[in-house]
Amino acid sequence: MSTPRKLFIKTYGCQMNVYDSERMAEALGGSGYTEVGSPEEADMILLNTCHIREKAAEKVYSELGRYKDLKAAKPDLKIGVAGCVAQAEGEEIIRRQPMVDLVVGPQSYHRLPEMEAKAGTEKVVDTDFPEEDKFERLKARPKAKRGPTAFLTVQEGCDKFCAFCVVPYTRGAEVSRPVARVLTEARDLVERGVREITLLGQNVNAYHGEGPDGRDWSLAGLIRELAEIEGLERIRFTTSHPNDMSDDLIAAHGEVGKLMPYLHLPVQSGSDRILKRMNRSHDRDSYLRLIDRIRAARPDILISGDFIVGFPEETDADFRDTMRLIEEVRYGQAFSFKYSTRPGTPAAEREQVAEEVKSARLQELQALITRQQRAVQDAMVGQTVGVLIERAGRMPGQMVGKSDHLHAVHLTADLAPGDLVRVRITESGPNSLGGVLARG
Ligand code: SAH
Ligand code: SF4
Ligand code: F3S
Repeated sequence: MSTPRKLFIKTYGCQMNVYDSERMAEALGGSGYTEVGSPEEADMILLNTCHIREKAAEKVYSELGRYKDLKAAKPDLKIGVAGCVAQAEGEEIIRRQPMVDLVVGPQSYHRLPEMEAKAGTEKVVDTDFPEEDKFERLKARPKAKRGPTAFLTVQEGCDKFCAFCVVPYTRGAEVSRPVARVLTEARDLVERGVREITLLGQNVNAYHGEGPDGRDWSLAGLIRELAEIEGLERIRFTTSHPNDMSDDLIAAHGEVGKLMPYLHLPVQSGSDRILKRMNRSHDRDSYLRLIDRIRAARPDILISGDFIVGFPEETDADFRDTMRLIEEVRYGQAFSFKYSTRPGTPAAEREQVAEEVKSARLQELQALITRQQRAVQDAMVGQTVGVLIERAGRMPGQMVGKSDHLHAVHLTADLAPGDLVRVRITESGPNSLGGVLARG
């Protein structure tokens, strides 16, 4: 038996990091660790980091700075850095912050228990890209009960090399997990109480995992198979690239009842000139036509997107093109960012847009998106939608869940987490909808 110890994990960045943190916590469970909610209690602190924008990466060093006193008071405390900053900076992290004991890149997590055993007596760094399926070796023991929703990574890495993005360097080449493994993990999650699974991948719709028939299966094939699992009520996936939105996946949106009417389909810019310079390999028109085809298959689908403003060489005219595209699409949700220079990416070398210009454009774009989000949300009033209850709300007797379209919905009813109910939407607030149980 290993000695009982306490682990504090702090997660930054995307949902894949959330999934990875869960797997790492489970793997370290085998070394005697249980998770705690604060760094002060911990015997080991693990930061699961994000390198996507400069600010995200800098947060890691300021957070590490805060642990200095803890480490001084408890010299046995182990401090590890995982995730995309670990991959991008490797040993440099230990040079900048010598109290770090362990640095582990996203493709080496299955080696974490061995690394943890060595940490403290020596510095351990692993940023390899091994050929094994790390998740196969990061299995849960014991199998704890879970909440109603879960992430499941099915594809990792990216071969697209958009000119602004670090992901192909931090996560490596595109790899899909075999269908049978995904199904086994999904069934296991359902047995542990999960009713909604979100399939994850940096380019999840490029999924091409080996099927039981020896052939590569598409994401649509995987979704159709997952939909057969009894007790699994809802399926989502994210993030998709416009170029990998195949006909069978579009058709699945119209045909598979368990596949939810929400699609995150980042476009980044509405200017063809900028899209080319971004190396996005789709243009404005192909994106708009794609949205039309998706809406033809599933008219009520809620479209969400990502935008970068102030990409190198972006002019006012380019920005206007982005604003016009947003007006045409009518987004239900969107994430927008000022371009952030990332060392080693092609766009870092180009002529940069002034910071004030970036800020002004971001503000204008976000104001438009907020109006659209609100309009899409307000239009739900009067409709009856499915809601998966996740937790108790702030008011007595109130429960909160997510609608089919991923809106937060609150209602007062005698319900428990995991209940899937039909709700008639009666009000639309700033960040959520309110409703009442629908009859029958
Ligand atoms: N694979 C996904 C996106 C992953 S990164 C896709 O292709 O859509 C998530 C978002 O971060 C991106 O969609 C982009 O909008 C933003 N992003 C990535 N690199 C960035 C950078 N250097 N500066 C600002 N935003 C960036
Ligand atoms: Fe980054 Fe582009 Fe790959 Fe998305 S598709 S992860 S933005 S390189
Ligand atoms: Fe960040 Fe890595 Fe995800 S850079 S967005 S944590 S893939």
